[in-house]
Amino acid sequence: MGDPLSATLHVAAHPGDAGAGDVPHLGDALPLCASDPRWLAVALADLDAVHADHLHCERKAAQSALSLVRSYPERADLVLAMAQLAHDETRHVIQVARLLSRRGQPASYDQGDDYAAELCTHIRGREPDRLLDRLLVFAVIEGRSAERLALLAGALEDPRARELYASLADAEVRHRDAFLALARDAAPEAWRSRAAELAALEAELLAHRTILARVH
Ligand SMILES: [Fe+2]
Ligand SMILES: [Fe+2]
Repeated sequence: MGDPLSATLHVAAHPGDAGAGDVPHLGDALPLCASDPRWLAVALADLDAVHADHLHCERKAAQSALSLVRSYPERADLVLAMAQLAHDETRHVIQVARLLSRRGQPASYDQGDDYAAELCTHIRGREPDRLLDRLLVFAVIEGRSAERLALLAGALEDPRARELYASLADAEVRHRDAFLALARDAAPEAWRSRAAELAALEAELLAHRTILARVH
């Protein structure tokens, strides 16, 4: 009962508790553009593909969070926030796996994610820039995921799937803010301008990207 790790896991077992509840306006620093309106129609036309991709998005989100624990073990706040976030994301993997199972759809191999790969090319190599960029690129991915999962939540026919997607969208907003809070703490002077730069780079990336039945 008094074990802090158990307490942490218990807290993180509820949607959003891996986020930063004390920082409600951080998202303003990351002005992502709206998705092309055609994306939702493309996604709804091949939901099997979207859900199959989504499973791997959640898996990779957990792995990315844990990769930060590996890289920055000396940062206690980051270690705790990322461990909690990874816990949330693995729970999302379970939730999406259950959705696939309900649909009678087997999971499939990861088709790769050139959206994330291209964003990662903007991560600078030298510290402390590298940490800031990794946090902000993950914030961008969380923010975009949140937007698109919310679009799906508003359009899916299956009420259970709608409810699931709405809860996942909320969680990804909190994850975005958790990354932004860590970015702010890591680079109080530089984080806002770099967040705006990366938001603009992401808008450019999306503008030149084929619209696919995938989360990104
Ligand atoms: Fe997630
Ligand atoms: Fe997330």
